[in-house]
Amino acid sequence: MSPESQDATRSGEPREAANSPDTSGGSARRSAADAARRALPGGVPGPPRRAAPGLLAAIGRDPLAAAIGLYREYGDRVRIPIPGHPLFLLSHPAHAEHVFVSRQDNYRKAATYKPLRIFLGDGLVTSEGALWERQRRLIQPLFGYRRVSALQPVMVRNTEKTLAEWERLPDGRLVDASEAMSLLTLNIVGEALFGADLTRPGARISSSVTGMQDFAVTAMRNPLLLPAPMLGLRTTPGYRRWRATVRAIDEVVERLTAERRAAPAREDERDLMDALLNARYEDGGQISDRQLRDEVVTFLMAGHETSATTLTWALYLLAAHPSARERLEAEVDAELGGAPPSVADLDRLPWTKAVLSEAMRLYPPFWTLERNAVEDDEVDGVPIPAGSTVAVPPYLVHRHPEAWDNPEGFSPERFLPGGGAERHRHAFIPFGSGRRGCVGNTFALIETAVALAMIAQRFRLDLVPGGVPKLQPTVTLRPLGGLRMVLRRR
Ligand code: HEM
Repeated sequence: MSPESQDATRSGEPREAANSPDTSGGSARRSAADAARRALPGGVPGPPRRAAPGLLAAIGRDPLAAAIGLYREYGDRVRIPIPGHPLFLLSHPAHAEHVFVSRQDNYRKAATYKPLRIFLGDGLVTSEGALWERQRRLIQPLFGYRRVSALQPVMVRNTEKTLAEWERLPDGRLVDASEAMSLLTLNIVGEALFGADLTRPGARISSSVTGMQDFAVTAMRNPLLLPAPMLGLRTTPGYRRWRATVRAIDEVVERLTAERRAAPAREDERDLMDALLNARYEDGGQISDRQLRDEVVTFLMAGHETSATTLTWALYLLAAHPSARERLEAEVDAELGGAPPSVADLDRLPWTKAVLSEAMRLYPPFWTLERNAVEDDEVDGVPIPAGSTVAVPPYLVHRHPEAWDNPEGFSPERFLPGGGAERHRHAFIPFGSGRRGCVGNTFALIETAVALAMIAQRFRLDLVPGGVPKLQPTVTLRPLGGLRMVLRRR
């Protein structure tokens, strides 16, 4: 056990998720320093070529554990010897700034997004170039602070529905917090962005998204996928199940868009669907059926799973750290007096917001972000040839010992106002950064704070004995098999 994790245990705080691999051990610190000495001019640190087959298998089995292993052994700049496709693992905050901001023109969404793209098409997450720019220009204004604040009643109403369901359960009942948060955030995006009530198809959509993620990750491991995408997909186990999943979600989306297309046009653009349907592009054209489908699927997926994961991990961390939970309950009781929070109230809930930030630091929903270099580049002394892939995992950046004390420890204090002034601006990147940063971050911050405060006003969720989750690093970082918790009224 590393010095840090011993301290955490001594202070009475349980360790985080069972297999949350420890990046902050003394060895990591030492190896980072060693790597810096080893790195240049003698070459970029990394495993030898002969290690490639074993490494590929390890990445296939558990990509997060593999990334952590490489970081611990070689430091924050690693060259991974995949034959024919140079791959780099970069995990210093300055690397994130370089790739996502200073040299962002040189980095495009990586080839690893291909399986996602087959499902999401050319929606905002996966598109590039002129199409992406046009769509981002159209969509971004809907996600400004003022527009998102106006959605607070939708967030409150849907959280209230979840809590009303919980009210009907006896104290001590087991609930799957992960599933409950998924359905909640799906209902919120459904109503907020598309004016749709997704309560009935919710479970189906949610399980489709899970199926899609699992398949995307399995497919990414198929070596045929890059040279021959369709063949790669068809020969990936689970392809038929995946087709059924795509059909299920497409049906819901078709119904949703057909209903709105049939309804009289609303000029005042109340939601994302209005904005998409009313769009008139510079060439005078309107949105195609395909583009509309791709954006709706993209927002249903990107807009719910990430927020749900954040809430799930926050509930887990609060259950594992009772003193932090008591402080949160005291804060919401004192500031809200039993009423749901308005957006202005959130400014008076610094601890609630700090807990959510710390949850996203320890378990960033998008645990890794990947880009392909367009032209040759150099990052922190590492030559990056054109065409290579760079992985900059928020999971590792969020634990970099130069930016964080006790990186593995749960300590929301670091996010209280006034803290962290000296921290690198890119040490905390749950929403990515630069032009391709999350368009929904304000939405997510308000939504998760409203939901967590309302849950804490009325309920406590406790861990079942031995119920410490394992991490499941698919597209998002989820608790493996969900998170069963014991529900109790406060
Ligand atoms: C806690 C919740 C969330 C987290 C942690 C998160 C994280 C991220 C990250 C890291 C990216 C950048 C991906 C990359 O650089 O490759 C991203 C992009 C995106 N997110 Fe979020 N997100 C969250 C919530 C949301 C919500 C609520 C919405 C919509 C309602 C949303 C919609 C999007 C979209 C459309 C993109 C693509 C933006 C573009 O490339 O122009 N996200 N998100």
